[in-house]
Amino acid sequence: MKILMASSEVHPYAKTGGLADMVSSLSPALAKLGHEVRIVLPRYYNIDRSGLDRLEGAMGVPVGGGEEWCAVYTAVLPSSPPNNPIPVYFIDHEGFFGREGIYGNPWEPDFLDNPRRFSFFCRAVFQLCRKIGWFPDILHSHDWPAALVSVYLKFWERPLGGEFSAASSVLTIHNLGYQGIYDKDNYSCMGLGWDVFYNAGFEDWNMMNILKAGLYSADKLNTVSPHYAGETKTQAHGFRLDGVLRYRSADYLGILNGIDTAVWNPAADPYIPQPYTVSTIAAGKARAKEALQREFGLSVDADVPLIGMVTRLTGQKGVDELFGPGYGSAWSICRDMNVQLVLLGSGETWCEDEIQSLAGRLPNFKCSIGYREDLSHLIEAGSDFFLMPSRYEPCGLNQMYSLAYGTLPIVRNTGGLVDTVENFNQETGEGTGFMFDDLTPQAIYNTVGWAVWAWYNRRPQIEAMRIAGMNKDFSWEKSAGKYIELYKGIRG
Ligand code: ADP
Ligand code: GLC
Repeated sequence: MKILMASSEVHPYAKTGGLADMVSSLSPALAKLGHEVRIVLPRYYNIDRSGLDRLEGAMGVPVGGGEEWCAVYTAVLPSSPPNNPIPVYFIDHEGFFGREGIYGNPWEPDFLDNPRRFSFFCRAVFQLCRKIGWFPDILHSHDWPAALVSVYLKFWERPLGGEFSAASSVLTIHNLGYQGIYDKDNYSCMGLGWDVFYNAGFEDWNMMNILKAGLYSADKLNTVSPHYAGETKTQAHGFRLDGVLRYRSADYLGILNGIDTAVWNPAADPYIPQPYTVSTIAAGKARAKEALQREFGLSVDADVPLIGMVTRLTGQKGVDELFGPGYGSAWSICRDMNVQLVLLGSGETWCEDEIQSLAGRLPNFKCSIGYREDLSHLIEAGSDFFLMPSRYEPCGLNQMYSLAYGTLPIVRNTGGLVDTVENFNQETGEGTGFMFDDLTPQAIYNTVGWAVWAWYNRRPQIEAMRIAGMNKDFSWEKSAGKYIELYKGIRG
């Protein structure tokens, strides 16, 4: 099958979260099954052109009633299987993407022209295929920024009866919390009639909802874990689109993300001091813990439990309950318990400020504000526990990375966390992590307390859970096959 992935984020070129990892690890998994996969994303300002090849000539893309011209750059995805390289195409347009930021920047968190930027990108996907003379069977797009690919296929390209008339579309929801809702004055840039505005489902209380149009228009839909697929069809988790998802439920399912075991593997990780496997975990983790404590300037102590976090600092991740000045549980945890807590993250300004002020007041809490690939690996390896109190979590990759590194997740009972972590049973010793139901500061405090209690009182059970976690298989093999079934389901 010929599959074209359209995404606003792809690791290692542009990443704000797990979407980038998912696209760059699902694609090679599909290529390993013998399929022909290509990827397209915008050429953002910080993607260095000098490492890329430029396709000859300029490319015209319809925008509104006119046309915009852009260049196309290309590279081979570094994680491609050697015998089936995956070409990556970068859509280069100075006006739309020649600025700092993917969706926004600290001064303009959501660029005003995002509807124009991403509708341009989605139309460019079709022009790219024409330019390179390669027409996919499946157009697979991810989240709202690429959702218009499904709309253009159904309401523009297919009716033309051209090269795309046999193509099908899949839209993957990575995060229902971001829908691309804008004033409908922006609709004119899409170059589609007002009949399509209503038929494709753009209309949303007199606004324009891009994700919603994608959910109506794509041939098949999925999200990134089975449990989240069920949750999104309920009012509590549907972000007002639960009705749409129930309506489309025959074409909608959850497929659990895999992890890229070439990148996230404690036996071959260049960012940790000593690689380890199940049989060498004690020594490997001890070295990593020491390195992590030194990195953050914590007291070097093997006996104190070290809790790590790597996260976007946004409400989705439970940071209000942890750090909110009114009822931060992080403060009480560090004050009352004999633990160390380290955090790597960036995001909302109030939260960055609060965390830094907390680090100034507590000797056992340290943070690094920013984005660091190397440190994220060291935290996964060097921590004893990994804290992820998500409000909602479509899949979550960090808890799977933690399990692969023998680090026990402390997570909320929601979304993909339910599909990947098993709660500790202190009678039998079974489980791979610690879970709680309610997102309250008290529940976080209690559950961290439970994990710390187990650390000091049930060490053999902790060691057994670590091994159980490392032995879990989160590779893409199973899930890639499910995507193929989804694609085949469309094509009959
Ligand atoms: P989400 O996509 O909702 O942020 P995931 O758990 O799916 O959550 O994926 C998060 C990804 O982003 C992981 O690969 C994680 O290591 C990475 N990440 C998040 N924040 C940072 C950061 N500050 N520095 C390095 N990596 C980060
Ligand atoms: C989103 C979700 C996260 C998921 C990731 C990759 O960013 O928030 O839960 O793991 O996409 O699918």
